[in-house]
Amino acid sequence: MRIFHCLAAVCSIASPTLGWPSKHACDYWLEDLPHQGVSAFGNTTDFLTWRNVKDFGAKGDGISDDSAAINRAISFGGTCAPGNCSSTTTAGATVYFPGGTYLVSSSIVDFYSTHLIGNAVCPPVLKAAHNFSGPAIIDGNPRLASGSLGFSELGLFFRQARNFAIDMTELPSHSNVTGIYWPTAQAHSLQNIRFDMHRGPDSRQTGLYIEVGAGGFLGDLAFHGGLYGLNIGNEHFTIRNVSFEGCSTAVHHLWDWGLTYQNIRIRDCGVGFNISAGGGTDSNVAAVVIFDSEIADTPVGITSGRSMNYSTPKGGSSLVLENIALLNVPVAVQGPDAVALNGTNHPRRSMVIDGWAQGTSYTPEGNQTVDGHTKPNLRPKSLVQANGKYYERSKPQFEHYPAARFLSARSHGAKGDGDTDDTIALQNVINKAAKARKIVFIDAGVYKVTHTIYVPSGSIITGEAFPVIMSAGEYFNDWSHPKPMLRLGRPGECGQILWTDTIVSTQGSQKGVILIEWNLASEPGAPSGMWDVHARIGGSAGSELELAQCKVSPGVAKPLVDEECISTFLAMHVTKHATGLYMENVWLWTADHELDAVGADSITVYAGRGLLIESEKGVLWLYGTAVEHYVKYQYQLAGTKDIVMGHIQTETPYYQPNPGAAYPFPYVASLGDPQFPLDNDTIPLPLPGNTDYITDAWALRIVNSESILVYGASLYSFFVDQNITCSLDSSVGYCQKRLTEVKNSTNVAVYGQDAVGTEYIYTVDGKDLAYFNDSYANYLEEHPWYTYVVAVFRSE
Ligand SMILES: *[C@@H]1O[C@H](CO)[C@@H](O)[C@H](O)[C@H]1NC(C)=O
Ligand SMILES: *[C@@H]1O[C@H](CO)[C@@H](O)[C@H](O)[C@H]1NC(C)=O
Ligand SMILES: *[C@@H]1O[C@H](CO)[C@@H](O)[C@H](O)[C@H]1NC(C)=O
Ligand SMILES: *[C@@H]1O[C@H](CO)[C@@H](O)[C@H](O)[C@H]1NC(C)=O
Ligand SMILES: *[C@@H]1O[C@H](CO)[C@@H](O)[C@H](O)[C@H]1NC(C)=O
Ligand SMILES: *[C@@H]1O[C@H](CO)[C@@H](O)[C@H](O)[C@H]1NC(C)=O
Ligand SMILES: *[C@@H]1O[C@H](CO)[C@@H](O)[C@H](O)[C@H]1NC(C)=O
Ligand SMILES: *[C@@H]1O[C@H](CO)[C@@H](O)[C@H](O)[C@H]1NC(C)=O
Ligand SMILES: *[C@@H]1O[C@H](CO)[C@@H](O)[C@H](O)[C@H]1NC(C)=O
Ligand SMILES: *[C@@H]1O[C@H](CO)[C@@H](O)[C@H](O)[C@H]1NC(C)=O
Ligand SMILES: *[C@@H]1O[C@H](CO)[C@@H](O)[C@H](O)[C@H]1NC(C)=O
Ligand SMILES: *[C@@H]1O[C@H](CO)[C@@H](O)[C@H](O)[C@H]1NC(C)=O
Repeated sequence: MRIFHCLAAVCSIASPTLGWPSKHACDYWLEDLPHQGVSAFGNTTDFLTWRNVKDFGAKGDGISDDSAAINRAISFGGTCAPGNCSSTTTAGATVYFPGGTYLVSSSIVDFYSTHLIGNAVCPPVLKAAHNFSGPAIIDGNPRLASGSLGFSELGLFFRQARNFAIDMTELPSHSNVTGIYWPTAQAHSLQNIRFDMHRGPDSRQTGLYIEVGAGGFLGDLAFHGGLYGLNIGNEHFTIRNVSFEGCSTAVHHLWDWGLTYQNIRIRDCGVGFNISAGGGTDSNVAAVVIFDSEIADTPVGITSGRSMNYSTPKGGSSLVLENIALLNVPVAVQGPDAVALNGTNHPRRSMVIDGWAQGTSYTPEGNQTVDGHTKPNLRPKSLVQANGKYYERSKPQFEHYPAARFLSARSHGAKGDGDTDDTIALQNVINKAAKARKIVFIDAGVYKVTHTIYVPSGSIITGEAFPVIMSAGEYFNDWSHPKPMLRLGRPGECGQILWTDTIVSTQGSQKGVILIEWNLASEPGAPSGMWDVHARIGGSAGSELELAQCKVSPGVAKPLVDEECISTFLAMHVTKHATGLYMENVWLWTADHELDAVGADSITVYAGRGLLIESEKGVLWLYGTAVEHYVKYQYQLAGTKDIVMGHIQTETPYYQPNPGAAYPFPYVASLGDPQFPLDNDTIPLPLPGNTDYITDAWALRIVNSESILVYGASLYSFFVDQNITCSLDSSVGYCQKRLTEVKNSTNVAVYGQDAVGTEYIYTVDGKDLAYFNDSYANYLEEHPWYTYVVAVFRSE
């Protein structure tokens, strides 16, 4: 392959461009396209992957009660109902709302894998009738008669709701109804939703209520009025581009381990963020990071339970602020006894908090308590916009393109039935679209591919209800000759690719597959992007990495593993050639359980490596990404630079160290693999003082790199050989010895780091830092884990 330099002129030609505006004011291509998605591996051939609520009798006229019709559309024919079904990979559907006002008198109850999508050009209004009765206008996870949630909040994946206005102003002000109730886990997003509530001290309304879960991404939301805009309790979440106006409290935290807020705008509220739950002596809040945000005309910016004098647990209520502008906010941070940081009374001249933190700070030189001003990160110019904030771009919905601009995969010969080899058909539609500057629309379905698919620069790809592109066959099954399933650009190619709403997956043993190989070089001013693109390795119908093949076997001596359960060499590779990539809400998951099973569903699938970034020029934005259960590492950044990430989340494989991370994938020096000891006889438990080596996967490795800035990280190790005691009771030892390695790297910072189950959080150039007991945080009955928190880690 000829390597050529990426010239701006070449790139601009290969970039997708806007144009061809729609003629009719509310025309939206998604509504206008023919809907021909299929449910592969499902039991019925007539399962509807597309449901327009008007086809089910909803009027959208603002007068008729549409609750029953909307719920009929959601519950029709085989969707996965709360209480009856815990999860599914064969019954995903889009429930579509054309523009209009839908009056509802009872909750819209959403089902598993059922996306609620409104017209993006003319977002529909969901209006609560004066006699509305129910917990929430959209109830994403209803409480059953038993009191438990309809879906386990930790297993509720793969769903989105977007393009709505939720109007609660017809309800009495004192009714404590919620706009959206959304306790969920990964691969979830809420986007482009406006909440209208009563204003003033009497209002008991809440916009968005998320009481439990392990998220998740929220973006482009606007809250008006209410007692709380957002009332949240969660393990981890990324919340970006959200505005609050006229709320009594904009954001209220019930509890958390690590939450990241970016570009939040609060105006005319009573309190901006109330993160004081549990108070100073029993804090329920572990870590909070807020950056690139503004608060105006609000008496108290942040209320915290943290008192440096007496707070327990020690790691509780760790807070990091960076680049926060205040305008007429007299108290910036209120502590339990006194003001912790003064704000400004000035109505026109803003005050900027460049850096401020409360918690523990670690550097290679040691640890210290921080309580006050901190040096802000040195931001590489390539990552920021003219206003100094980091670059951001919300998921494009292409709402100004007409239906004629889209090419359906199924209309171009692909079947999506999980059985037909769709390699050639998919390659053809991708080539045709790139040439004609059209957009590939992958209809709902599972597309089996047996050879590499090349995605040229200029491509735009979007999916319906998370279509799955699934690698299969011998071509991808040789780990000495790994091959990409999707190759985005060739080495040396430049331009832009935009990709949204797709799952990549595998079938059976695929020892040599690299699911996504990103080579494309994009200009920092016109980066490529991936939004709501997820990897799901095993655990789904048709994956043949299910209970029948890959049931867990704790206590059975390894390292010999089930050959048929070795799948995926590397989930995603951002190669040396790639630069200029934006990733938002991307979850690269190796399944730990089967999603279509009833009852005991734990499985073990061996996938070698998670996300490897080797981009020489760097310039990557990763907002709301998570990588879980890979054998050697979750994130590895090697020989790269200029990367901002927040919030990141990982989990170590549940079976480790039986076998340890040396098995089953051979060490590959050219990929910069970490090395692990071979130990075939014993399961070396990381008891205190017992072992001095690591046999578990790294959560995060940063090697030979520069300017890696992380805003929020939740890195978890819950098990030893499927046994969870190690994360509940440190007297029996830890689940893992070490978790994060930083080696030969400069300008690395991690804010708001929380971890579970590890003895040390950081190992920097061979030295262990951040001993768990120094930074231990919440131990709560309802969330009984040892969580360790570090407010700031910095290596200069
Ligand atoms: C499909 O039907 C078979 C046979 O009735 C049943 O065993 C299986 O669980 C069903 N699968 C799904 C996804 O409903
Ligand atoms: C759950 O299943 C029961 C029995 O099959 C059925 O009567 C009920 O309607 C189902 N509930 C939902 C919400 O689908
Ligand atoms: C609510 O009021 C509407 C008329 O405004 C009526 O059609 C509907 O049946 C009522 N619903 C309930 C649950 O009372
Ligand atoms: C809402 O009000 C009901 C009854 O008035 C009460 O049981 C419930 O706890 C309240 N919910 C919230 C979130 O305040
Ligand atoms: C932020 O969200 C608003 C909608 O609330 C949207 O119009 C705007 O484009 C978004 N901006 C960014 C930078 O994502
Ligand atoms: C903050 O929230 C807590 C409950 O989590 C509440 O007790 C406290 O009054 C709130 N503080 C303010 C200033 O609203
Ligand atoms: C914390 O302790 C110091 C020194 O004892 C004291 O000056 C300060 O007032 C205390 N702060 C609070 C918030 O209690
Ligand atoms: C806040 O300002 C007041 C009045 O100027 C001053 O007494 C107090 O020490 C300041 N508090 C902090 C935390 O700087
Ligand atoms: C451990 O097992 C592997 C694979 O079975 C084998 O190649 C290796 O020689 C064994 N090592 C030891 C130290 O026994
Ligand atoms: C350290 O990293 C730099 C790149 O940041 C690299 O040039 C150098 O070779 C590395 N040193 C070692 C000893 O690996
Ligand atoms: C899990 O580990 C704990 C502590 O090592 C041990 O007491 C317990 O028996 C183990 N549980 C199982 C199911 O093996
Ligand atoms: C710093 O580390 C030392 C040694 O592990 C420990 O005793 C101390 O409590 C730590 N301090 C903080 C603020 O975490």
